[in-house]
Amino acid sequence: MFAVHLLSFYFSKLQEDQIKKVDRYLYAMRLSDDQLADISARFRQEMEKGLSNESNATAAVKMLPTHVYSTPDGSEKGEFLALDLGGSKFKVLQVKVSEDRKGKVQMESETFPIPEEFLNGRGTELFEHVAESLKSFLRKHHINHTRKALGFTFSFPCAQSKIDEGVLLSWSKNFKARGVQGNNVVQLLRKAIQKVGDVDVDVLAMVNDTVGAMMTCGYDDQNCEVGVIIGTGTNACYIEEMRHIDLVEGDEGRMCINTEWGAFGDDGVLDDFITSFDREIDAASINPGKQLFEKMVSGMYMGELVRLILLKMAKKGLLFRGQVSDALRTKGTFQTKHICLIEQYKGGLENTKEILEDLGLNPSEDDCIAVQHVCTIVSFRSANLVAAALAAILTRIRENKKLKTLRTTVGVDGTVYRTHPQYPKRLHKVVRHLVPDCHVRFVLSESGSAKGAAMVTAVAQRLASQRKEIDDTLAAFALSPTQLQEVKAKMRVELERGLKKDSHPTASVKMLPTYVYRTPDGTERGKYLALDLGGTNFRVLVVKIRTGMRNSVRMYNKIYAIPLEIMQGTGEEYNMFTIIILYKLRNCISDFLDYMGMKNTRLPLGFTFSFPCNQTGIDKGDLVCWTKGFKATECEGYDVVDMLREAIKRRNEFDLDIVAIVNDTVGTMMTCAYEDPKCQIGLIAGTGSNVCYMEEMKNIEFVEGDEGQMCVNTEWGGFGANDNIEDIRTRYDREVDGGSLNPGKQRFEKMTSGMYLGEIVRRILIDLTKHGLLFRGRITERLKTKGIFETKFLSQIESDRLALLQVRSILQHLGLDSTCDDSIIVKEVCGAVSRRAAQLCGAGMAAVVDKIRENRGLDNLEITVGVDGTLYKLHPHFSTILKDTVRELAPNCKVDFILSEDGSGKGAALITAVAQQHYTDKQEPH
Ligand code: BG6
Ligand code: BG6
Ligand code: GLC
Ligand code: GLC
Repeated sequence: MFAVHLLSFYFSKLQEDQIKKVDRYLYAMRLSDDQLADISARFRQEMEKGLSNESNATAAVKMLPTHVYSTPDGSEKGEFLALDLGGSKFKVLQVKVSEDRKGKVQMESETFPIPEEFLNGRGTELFEHVAESLKSFLRKHHINHTRKALGFTFSFPCAQSKIDEGVLLSWSKNFKARGVQGNNVVQLLRKAIQKVGDVDVDVLAMVNDTVGAMMTCGYDDQNCEVGVIIGTGTNACYIEEMRHIDLVEGDEGRMCINTEWGAFGDDGVLDDFITSFDREIDAASINPGKQLFEKMVSGMYMGELVRLILLKMAKKGLLFRGQVSDALRTKGTFQTKHICLIEQYKGGLENTKEILEDLGLNPSEDDCIAVQHVCTIVSFRSANLVAAALAAILTRIRENKKLKTLRTTVGVDGTVYRTHPQYPKRLHKVVRHLVPDCHVRFVLSESGSAKGAAMVTAVAQRLASQRKEIDDTLAAFALSPTQLQEVKAKMRVELERGLKKDSHPTASVKMLPTYVYRTPDGTERGKYLALDLGGTNFRVLVVKIRTGMRNSVRMYNKIYAIPLEIMQGTGEEYNMFTIIILYKLRNCISDFLDYMGMKNTRLPLGFTFSFPCNQTGIDKGDLVCWTKGFKATECEGYDVVDMLREAIKRRNEFDLDIVAIVNDTVGTMMTCAYEDPKCQIGLIAGTGSNVCYMEEMKNIEFVEGDEGQMCVNTEWGGFGANDNIEDIRTRYDREVDGGSLNPGKQRFEKMTSGMYLGEIVRRILIDLTKHGLLFRGRITERLKTKGIFETKFLSQIESDRLALLQVRSILQHLGLDSTCDDSIIVKEVCGAVSRRAAQLCGAGMAAVVDKIRENRGLDNLEITVGVDGTLYKLHPHFSTILKDTVRELAPNCKVDFILSEDGSGKGAALITAVAQQHYTDKQEPH
């Protein structure tokens, strides 16, 4: 009995000695709780570094956005193909996800070997091999009937700016194919698939294996928000708050981040934990200096670590009585799978003996115990390190959620975790020990990452089909160069028709004479009163012009808002003018004259009236029809100047000498021509849209006289009234037209001006919302409100300087509760609508300048356009697109655009001055 005890004591003493010996030798690999807490804290810092804009570029831990926003919610369904490349096995799979969440996921898979030469050869060949394998899988399983969506698990660090794009940052593990780094692997895959032919698939999503694992587990456990791989390589992903991810715009919701923790330590932060064995491994690897954490942890390196340790110990006489075999000297002869066998509970020692003997060694019992312990230290260190990094992630999630205790699930995959007999247990234990406030459920990703990749693909497919709907909707707003040429040609026809006597009365582009015969020449002088009615603002001005000196105009003005009841009033007794005079003008003008110290002075008045008027003289013009937001009764068909005089007379308080009535385009042209004599065109791109230009008298058939020129107010806003641009009008244009104050009229204006662009946008948004593509499918009262998108908002939304968040806040300010995704779509819609508007104006302008060029019999024309209007002034892209279009469509004209800084009041005063001169010239005998 005593002898048995003695023997067992002797044996455990012997075992203890061996263990102590190894412990002593490998003390640097045995990590204490404090050290693990320290490593965990360092990893937390590395995560923050990777997430932040300032430090991401130099961060070792890259924290890559994955563009995976949620874990599976059960809405995913369909049949998908999956490729799983980068782990120990390359697999092609088919995944069928049934409608009913309970109805399980069916999977078929096949593993294809990747010959060594592809790992190190040309990237194109590697991807062609992948595509060939896919092709043979499809054939074997008779799959290629309908086009299939494919999810690509690619287990390497990739920069993703969207779900179906991934630029390989660097190879890791045992891959090193040429020409892939820095390229979009999805594109490489697509190309390869195309090259091998006969494979009808859409590569819709690319995911890292960690993401695949997390999503696979997330299908069964909605709490799964972390994915970990401990296999050939090691890595983790987790769900982060969007507001912490600087690299991606937007702050709401969450996104999965691929940490690429394998690179932890690449910047030296783990140097004090890196042993000489780790350095040796690193030096002999295909990526020295890279993936240092991975090299201490993962399956590709652990076996080799053990071999190096054993070799060194043997050489030092600490093992195998100092004996070393050739096999032990050879790289790769001892693998992680051997560690798994050696560490088995039962039979571990026997396995050790066998394995060592296979290596040509002759191990003693002591040696086997010692070797077993070496394996334990190496694999335990791996589990410790993973636990430390994982603890950092869990703590971050807990703090993100502001929770005292976190309950969460971690999905895990990888051969080390799957096959090492003690690894999972140790890992779980250390994690629980390090973060007692996180209750973690570890789930093995039984079916690999393909199932998860299929879930991501399902979401991508849904988004892609939504994207297509949006693209299809907006495609109607994209005009081809040919279409723009056609618009130009049609506009030209209408300009001519408007000028011809017989077609003038019925022309859609009215070509109204203005009785302005020339632009200012600098001889104008005097003090004038000007009214400016019909744009966004109603203004009253006093304009003083000193003779002979350009730039010597002084202006004083005040802006007044016009209430809706006046714009659209149905006054029986008083027409709109009466009301304006009664309520506004009287006060404003006397106010103004008082302020100017000019009471009782009777100033000549120029009236900018921005509506179509049939003029028979400079101070005579019948309102043809209201446009834009005006519809006051009893005005159409009446002389505007008469109405204004009449209204003033009624009050009998002051007298005004109305000398000229001026369209705003004409006022603008005159304002600009005062600065630049080449200005012979006036353009308004504001609430409304219109152009005037200097035409040859002989071409204006319905006005007597053939000499000289006269400015023609084209009223091009009416273009399209004869159905000649129906091919480019969309249903939204028709809806906006139908809901306007003047249905069927001003069709071109309704596609090009500020008052309507916002409305078109709103109609499109309603439609997209109805289809569930925006605002979570909810059409709010606010969205139903006409006119919410004023030009200024449209312009703000489209500004390139605005971040998405600011766009969202504008929309929210407008009462539209939008997400960041919504904001992107709204911005796109605005862009499509405003772009078309600018192009159409450009096409119209090209017709005008070419006409002027031909009028003058010139090969080339140099001309300036004076422009005003809030759309032109405020919109970030309108003017550029307009100019580009004119350049493309009228290549023989060099057209300059100058902005009318002072509005059209100055021009109206100049016209008044010219008219007065004209009048005086006629009165005074020469
Ligand atoms: C598999 C996954 O189960 O595990 C792969 O499907 C992953 O996507 C792999 O890369 C990781 O483990 P290993 O050991 O094969 O590298
Ligand atoms: C102003 C002019 O600057 O621009 C007005 O003075 C003109 O006469 C107006 O009608 C056009 O722009 P909007 O955007 O105000 O319609
Ligand atoms: C390597 C890769 C990483 C992958 C991991 C596990 O670390 O860089 O992307 O997730 O291996 O396969
Ligand atoms: C409308 C008016 C036109 C005006 C334009 C710009 O189109 O009909 O006269 O010039 O708006 O304000």
